Amino acid sequence: MIRRFAHLNLPKQPLFLAPMEDVTDHTFRYVCKQMGGVDVMITEFVSSDGLVYNAKKSIKKIKIEDYERPIGIQIYGHVPERMVEAAKIVEDADPDFIDINFGCPVKKIANRGAGSGMLRNVPLLIEITEKVVKAVKKPVTVKTRLGWDENSKNIVEVAHLLNNIGIAGLTIHGRTRNQMYSGKADWTLIGIVRKDPEITLPIIGNGDIVNPIQAKEHFETYCVDGIMIGRGCIGRPWIFKHIRHFLETGELLPEPTLAEKIEIARMHLLRSVEDKGEYGGILTMRRHYVQYFKGIEHSREWKIKLLTSNSLEENLALLDELKSRT
Ligand SMILES: Cc1cc2nc3c(=O)[nH]c(=O)nc-3n(C[C@H](O)[C@H](O)[C@H](O)COP(=O)(O)O)c2cc1C
Repeated sequence: MIRRFAHLNLPKQPLFLAPMEDVTDHTFRYVCKQMGGVDVMITEFVSSDGLVYNAKKSIKKIKIEDYERPIGIQIYGHVPERMVEAAKIVEDADPDFIDINFGCPVKKIANRGAGSGMLRNVPLLIEITEKVVKAVKKPVTVKTRLGWDENSKNIVEVAHLLNNIGIAGLTIHGRTRNQMYSGKADWTLIGIVRKDPEITLPIIGNGDIVNPIQAKEHFETYCVDGIMIGRGCIGRPWIFKHIRHFLETGELLPEPTLAEKIEIARMHLLRSVEDKGEYGGILTMRRHYVQYFKGIEHSREWKIKLLTSNSLEENLALLDELKSRT
């Protein structure tokens, strides 16, 4: 039987854009959609406190556009009442689903008990999830990790508990909190959860997928209902299209040429400036430039030039100059 993540009608083997703070903003989501192949997107995480106390940044983050659908808004926090209130605020922004973050490893969040910190307090994790599910009509999904550390990988137990409280999907990043982003993602437990006969939730696998061959192998080996891609799409927003093409045809598309990458980066830059103004737009692009132009000839010099240029005009001129060298 097909398990429908967040009750959505998705193609077979759907591909998800991972929520990434300061990366998967409006602009980047637009670029990924333009490139094609991405089936579901999730916003950057939004603080429940920020929403409840009406913080400008949080309110801005939950604004979504119709072309982004299907899209989920992700919230985090550790106080049940505030998570419920935040979920209601988010529901008014009309996402297709609401995702709860129980995976963030960052100290100031996890050590306060939010994000992956919740993996050390499973009763609270379940209480928050249950209360949010009851408070909203939209499907609620959860994203988490394997456990807090190597000695407390409790994802199977957590998945069993989550299975019976009305959520509509579970994304698992194959690392513990203590691993942060180091080492290799371990998909074994993701597969065990997915194949557990008592767990009927749609399970989305996440961690270290960076090419179409890997994506196909992971779909086949771990039987997941979707694959989520994070760092593998930064500076490579075409990865979804390439994976989709490979899954459908068995054929690998060539990486874009440098000239093509420059055009994609230019589109990204223009949109970024449109969304955030010249200063904010250029600042945001710096993280992406590094990835777009990784490994090109004289990459260090280009990196310095691109990362120190402060006007749109200068940025565009640099992209032109780089293109004229290809
Ligand atoms: C810069 C950055 C920001 C992230 N922000 C979030 C976030 O806001 N919410 C979340 O659930 N995960 C966040 N993550 C984790 C990713 O969604 C994903 O689980 C992780 O990067 C592993 O997938 P990958 O190996 O494909 O990158 C972030 C990761 C990175 C690198």
